[in-house]
Amino acid sequence: MTNNKNVLNWVDEMVALCKPDKVVWIDGSEEQLKALREEACSTGEMLKLNEEKLPGCLLHRTAVNDVARVEGRTYICTRNKEDAGPINNWEDPKVMYERLTKMYDGVMKGRTMYVIPYCMGPIGSKLSKVGVELTDSIYVVLNMDIMTRMGVDAFKQLGDTSNDFVRGLHSKADIDEEKRYIVHFPEDNTIWSINSGYGGNVLLGKKCFALRIASYQGKNEGWMAEHMLILGIENPQGEVKYIAAAFPSACGKTNLAMLIPPEVYKNKGYKVWTVGDDIAWMRIGDDGRLWAINPEAGFFGVAPGTNAHSNFNALESTKKNTIFTNVVHNLDDNTVWWEGLDKNPPKNALNWKGEKWDCTDGSKGAHPNSRFTAPAKNCPCVSPKFDDPTGVPISAIIFGGRRAKTAPLVYQSRSWQHGVFVGSIMASETTAAATGAVGVVRRDPMAMRPFCGYHMGDYFGHWLEMGKRLGDKAPKIFNVNWFRTDDEGHFIWPGFGDNMRVLMWILDRCEGKADAVETPIGFEPKAEDINIEGLGDISVETVKGLLDVDKNLWKEEADGIEEFYKTFGDRLPKELHDELDTLKANLK
Ligand code: GTP
Ligand code: MN
Ligand code: MN
Repeated sequence: MTNNKNVLNWVDEMVALCKPDKVVWIDGSEEQLKALREEACSTGEMLKLNEEKLPGCLLHRTAVNDVARVEGRTYICTRNKEDAGPINNWEDPKVMYERLTKMYDGVMKGRTMYVIPYCMGPIGSKLSKVGVELTDSIYVVLNMDIMTRMGVDAFKQLGDTSNDFVRGLHSKADIDEEKRYIVHFPEDNTIWSINSGYGGNVLLGKKCFALRIASYQGKNEGWMAEHMLILGIENPQGEVKYIAAAFPSACGKTNLAMLIPPEVYKNKGYKVWTVGDDIAWMRIGDDGRLWAINPEAGFFGVAPGTNAHSNFNALESTKKNTIFTNVVHNLDDNTVWWEGLDKNPPKNALNWKGEKWDCTDGSKGAHPNSRFTAPAKNCPCVSPKFDDPTGVPISAIIFGGRRAKTAPLVYQSRSWQHGVFVGSIMASETTAAATGAVGVVRRDPMAMRPFCGYHMGDYFGHWLEMGKRLGDKAPKIFNVNWFRTDDEGHFIWPGFGDNMRVLMWILDRCEGKADAVETPIGFEPKAEDINIEGLGDISVETVKGLLDVDKNLWKEEADGIEEFYKTFGDRLPKELHDELDTLKANLK
């Protein structure tokens, strides 16, 4: 499949280490994939679902101890410890290679090693990059087929002599959580993952490559790899403007990326197009603007809560050729179910653990972090630019998270530099997407806390540098919060499709068409400039409340930021200290 000596030598080396019984090169052909699906179903690793209702769909259950990303066991191994800090776990690469080499030694005896060539980004794009993942899991092969451009084309993209590919090695080993490691060696273009079978830990093209390794490459090569969705809004004249938005895991990227415009906009002819729902790679184009591609080819979305109302387009995307992980198996018609799909949980079913389940005991049937892996081309609103090698130009960048109180519905930064500050102080209540407590506020700068492959202070510096290069062509930067609650803890803002009302103000700001009022934290809309036509429960007064900036809460916030900033030491750019001083002065 390839004559590239760098690939061949490395595969030989890893085969010698892992000692699989058999090595299979994945060419991406339908014939080969069909055989793998059949094999996985015959061993029980996957389960074939109802061919009429869910054609080409499969169900998989992970081990009970292996249901989410494990940040505590995720490492960035750089030669200098400081280069990984202060948030990432670190270990000396020599020590880590030695420790893991022992664990990989002979780990694939009795198993098959699959060699997966894949391309992140459209084939033929200068923005794309190639990886090769070695794995002993058919589940990984079948997911990588959906999530990436997998097969011989990836080797064509790499060429016969290039050494610029990410070397990924994965083994399920014994799924032993005590020995689970998700390890990145950014300086060697290498990822080693062992003892897990959960998507975020084992689909090495996604978080491991497209964010952790790519963010490091982007810093060195002058581009950006971000935890961002990309969407296009088409106006009635047919012009499309693109927005990139970073929210922490399970905070609404997939939902926003596929939103359905509310009637007020739909009736006028507005349309929304999905370019990406999780990751954006962005470079400065020949025209000086910031251009983005989605390096992925599919959606690895959170299942619970996905329904025909909350995210019709995501649900449609899962109707064929989709892999479901850790959802409920409806035994009556061999389909799937999850909390929030509809109000009719199946009576005759197995829960995500494979136990008999009928919802009467109050337990959840699907794991809160259960997922679907769906091809992007299934999505009714997939952008015509999805495969465009040049990507799309970005007008606005949005940050956001779950904040019950502090953050207002929307505000705009005063400048790129202030926007970098706004991104750097992002905080969100934790979700089930990672193991650990849920609902605790933690700082998650640019939604990259778990995904930045180098020192976060240097990462802020890189953002500032990109802004200098972009100059007056830089996208405008905003912050949103769909999650403000009332005294009973209910969300005030309707969210989902209605978030478009906020996006419209954002685009109007980018085009100089909307007014703003200055607040201590940045520019806000006038409450009456958020279109609430057709929103029964929401009045201008409610919007005013949602936009309220509580100075006392923000003073506490400023103290929290100061504490957080201290952890960066002298790697925190001076510009951000200046912005914090400005915030404090504004709050006096
Ligand atoms: P990752 O794929 O893990 O990076 O997460 P994500 O950012 O794509 O999150 P996703 O879109 O899957 O949203 C997860 C949760 O947020 C679901 O429970 C949604 O119901 C909820 N959610 C999304 N958008 C909104 C919104 O506008 N308002 C409210 N209240 N909830 C929302
Ligand atoms: Mn994500
Ligand atoms: Mn998502």
